[in-house]
Amino acid sequence: MLLNGPNLNLLGRREPARYGTTTLAEIEKAVSELGRSWGWEVVCFQSNHEGALIDCIHNAFGRVDLIIINPGAYTHTSVALRDALAGVAIPVIEVHLSNIHAREEFRHHSFIAPIAVGQIAGFGADGYRLAMEGARHYLTVRKG
Ligand code: DQA
Repeated sequence: MLLNGPNLNLLGRREPARYGTTTLAEIEKAVSELGRSWGWEVVCFQSNHEGALIDCIHNAFGRVDLIIINPGAYTHTSVALRDALAGVAIPVIEVHLSNIHAREEFRHHSFIAPIAVGQIAGFGADGYRLAMEGARHYLTVRKG
């Protein structure tokens, strides 16, 4: 499952110098196609609402092998999102287009990172493909 949080629906138009010109639709298509080439079904969801993301995570309980999530600004604020991800016990890979650690201090902390398999930040839209590679490695090699 690919989840994207607030403001990521604006990708392509939002601060292109920082986040690039690739749209979320293009990212979702590329991730879905890559997954399909591996025999995976990728379900994509984006919301600007914390509760909607949490409901989506709850619905994934027992039905999804792994979640790739860019939580947007909720990364830095949402204990509820972290608890939802921990609660369903689905492996999580955290993605950020920008290198959050090289930005403002308030972006350095992630509530999600401590419960994630790993974090990819700073590679723009390509980070989602890297997350998919990480997911494949995790599901086929690391998890056994
Ligand atoms: C982001 C980084 C966050 O700090 C920011 O709030 C975003 C995008 C990224 O992909 O670089 O919305 O998650």
